[in-house]
Amino acid sequence: MSSNNLDLIDRLRSAVGAAGLVLEKEAKAAYETDWLQKWTGLSSVVVRPANTQETAEVMRICHETHTPVVIQGGNTGMSGGATPDTSGAQVILSMVRMNAIRNVDPLNNTLTAESGVILANIQAAAQEANRYFPLSLGAEGSCTIGGNLATNAGGIAVLRYGNARELVLGLEVVLPDGRIWNGMRALRKDNTGYDLRDLFVGSEGTLGVITAAVLKLHAKPIARATAWVGAESVDALIRLLAQMREVCGERLVAFEMISEESLDLILEHVADVRAPLANSHPFNALIELSDTQEQGLADLLESSLGDALEGGMIQDVVVSQTNGQTQAFWKIREGISQAQVRAGKAVKHDIALPISAIPAFVRGADVAVRKALPGAQIINFGHLGDGNLHYNVLLPLDSSPEAYAATTAKLNRVVHDIVSVANGSISAEHGVGQLRRDELRHYKSEVEFDLMLRIKQSLDPNHIMNPGKLI
Ligand code: FAD
Ligand code: MLT
Ligand code: ZN
Repeated sequence: MSSNNLDLIDRLRSAVGAAGLVLEKEAKAAYETDWLQKWTGLSSVVVRPANTQETAEVMRICHETHTPVVIQGGNTGMSGGATPDTSGAQVILSMVRMNAIRNVDPLNNTLTAESGVILANIQAAAQEANRYFPLSLGAEGSCTIGGNLATNAGGIAVLRYGNARELVLGLEVVLPDGRIWNGMRALRKDNTGYDLRDLFVGSEGTLGVITAAVLKLHAKPIARATAWVGAESVDALIRLLAQMREVCGERLVAFEMISEESLDLILEHVADVRAPLANSHPFNALIELSDTQEQGLADLLESSLGDALEGGMIQDVVVSQTNGQTQAFWKIREGISQAQVRAGKAVKHDIALPISAIPAFVRGADVAVRKALPGAQIINFGHLGDGNLHYNVLLPLDSSPEAYAATTAKLNRVVHDIVSVANGSISAEHGVGQLRRDELRHYKSEVEFDLMLRIKQSLDPNHIMNPGKLI
C-alpha cells in the first residue's frame, strides 16, 4: 500500500472509527461483486459511516484528496452502479450502518428514515403505525431506501402508487465536498425554486450521498384480490388492462406480464412452484386489486375477469382463494430474476414505452432479435401496467465473455433502436450504472446530455462521485 493510501486510510479511520472500516481482502469481497455476479471490482477500502456527520467527514476527505467514491446500499442493483472499477483506487461508501428509522408521523402520513434502512423494514414500520409504504420489489429484503431513491426504483405497485420518486417528500444529502444539504421537508407543497430533491432521486450516486429521506405513507389496504390470467397475445392483455383500469380505478395495483417462455424458465429453475393454469398460454398476467375496505373487491375482480373470459379477450383465469395461493402466484413472478441467473447469461433490457405502443414493439423486436440471433431465447416479462418490459435474451451459461459482450452490443442496438423510434426509454427502473452508460450517450440528445454534464460538473467538479457510471 502506498504512503498516500495509508494516509488516506488513517484519515478515514479518524472519521468513522475502526468499526467503520473494512480493510481485509476477504471481507471487502462481499462489497466488490454485485447481486447478479456480473461485475467485480477492487476497492481500496470499504467505509461504513454510522451517521450523517461521519458521512460528511468522509466526503470532505475524499474531496480534498480527489479520491473516487462508489456509494453502496444493499448492492442489489441490476446495472453495476454500486461496483467499483478494477483499479483498486476507489473507496466504497457503504450506507448499511445508517439504518435508523428516525420518526413515523401518522398525522402527516410520513416516515423519516436513514438511507441504509432495508426496504422491508420500512414497510414493516409503516405497517406498525397502521399505514402503508407501497414500494415493493423482489429485492425488498436486502435493498436499501437510499439505493431505491438513487435508482428511482419501480417495482410491482407503480401502476397505483408511482415510482420511488413519487414516494419521497424530503431528502438529506451529503454533497461531494462534504457539505450537508438539509432538504428534510415533510411537505406536499413547496414551490421555493428548483426541485433539488428530484435532482438527487435517480442520480445513482453521481451527485451526492443520500443520507436520509422523508417518505410518503398511504392508507393501509386491508383487502387484496389476486388472479392469474392466460391470453393469446400481448394486445389482448393490454385491452384487458385498459378495461380493468376503467372498471377498478385506483383499486388496480399490479398488472404484471409473464410470457410463456419466462414461465417455463421459472418452473424449471425455481423450487416449489407450479403452473397456476392447466394449459400453457403465450402470455400470462398476474393481476392484483387492493382496497382499504373488504366489501366487493373479490366480486369486482371475478366479474371483470369473467366478462373478459366470456368475451374471448382472455383464454383462462384462476382467482386466488387463499393467502397461500396469492403468495404462490407472487413467488412465480418474483422468481424470474433468480431463474435467469441459474439458466444462462441474460442480455437484459429494461425498457419503457407508451402502453399502446407495446404490441408493435413486441412484434417488431421478436422478429428483429430472431433475425440478429437465430433461435434466440427471449425472456419477456415485466410491469405491463407501467409500460415497462424486461425484454431479455438468454444466452448459454457457458458463453465466453467475448461472445456475451459482442451479442449484447448487437442486441442492444436492435432492441433500443426500436424503443427509440417509438419514443420510449432504454432505462425504465434499474438505472443506467455501467451497463447502459454508453447506450445512454448514444440515445440522449446533445442538448439533454450537455445539461446533464453541466449539472454533474457544478455539483462534483473533481469528478469523484461514481466515476464510470451513468455519465
Ligand atoms: P445498490 O445496488 O447498492 O446501489 C444502486 C445505485 O444507487 C448505485 O449507483 C449506488 O451508487 C447508488 N446508491 C446506493 N445508495 C445510495 C445513497 N444512499 N446515496 C446515493 N446513491 C446511492 N429494481 C426495480 O426498480 N424494480 C424491480 O422490480 C426490481 N426487482 C429486483 C429483483 C431482484 C431479485 C433484484 C436482485 C433486484 C431488483 N431490482 C429491481 C433492482 C434493485 O433492487 C434496485 O435497483 C434497488 O433500488 C437497489 O437498491 P440497493 O440498496 O441495493 O442499491
Ligand atoms: C423484476 O421486475 O423482476 C426485475 O426488475 C428484476 C429483473 O429484471 O430481473
Ligand atoms: Zn422490474
